[in-house]
Amino acid sequence: MLNNARLLVTSPNARDWPDKKKPEVLFAGRSNVGKSSLINALTGQKKLAYTGKTPGKTRMLNFYSVDDKLLLVDAPGYGFAVSSNKNNVDFDKLMTTYFQLRKPEALLLLVDCRRGINQDDIMMKELADYYGINTLIVLTKIDKCNKDGRLSTSNAVSEKLNIPSSRIVWTSSENKEGIDNLEKRILAFCKK
Ligand code: GTP
Ligand code: MG
Repeated sequence: MLNNARLLVTSPNARDWPDKKKPEVLFAGRSNVGKSSLINALTGQKKLAYTGKTPGKTRMLNFYSVDDKLLLVDAPGYGFAVSSNKNNVDFDKLMTTYFQLRKPEALLLLVDCRRGINQDDIMMKELADYYGINTLIVLTKIDKCNKDGRLSTSNAVSEKLNIPSSRIVWTSSENKEGIDNLEKRILAFCKK
């Protein structure tokens, strides 16, 4: 369990973000894929990150500090423009600024095991590659997929993103399958 997590900052503006003193990982992916739920599952807190059935629940970058040792960063779903103080911030620009300024230890790219990837996922992976950032694919909601479904999505993602199967993990925030393993992977990225 990633204990003692707390929300530090919620903002699309780089000037508000905390100093990059600790390692951090970014959670990104399509809206509704389960980014915020995964942060709650990892930290053992039901209501740390805001979740919901309708897409676009997360609109800003949310920085969560874990025991003052590392940061988990929750992103909005692709295309969900973030706004604060009437300034609209374009999603692509937000991500480019984020990668450029913070160089996270890893991108956790979440993919729904029932849906697979789309063009936005490919662009996200390419952006991480461009900045030399490691990508770990997290197949989400595996409680909704049988073994064959998981495997076929996993293989398709591996092929389309040119990523080895060792860089793909399977999780369910619902029944907590794979959560401990993902935690280990996050800690390993943050040690380097
Ligand atoms: P945005 O912030 O809108 O981009 O969405 P998000 O990616 O943060 O998704 P969120 O965590 O809000 O979850 C979206 C919906 O999926 C919610 O209704 C969750 O309860 C549900 N959900 C998330 N993870 C799982 C899971 O592992 N299994 C199942 N069955 N449902 C899940
Ligand atoms: Mg969210």
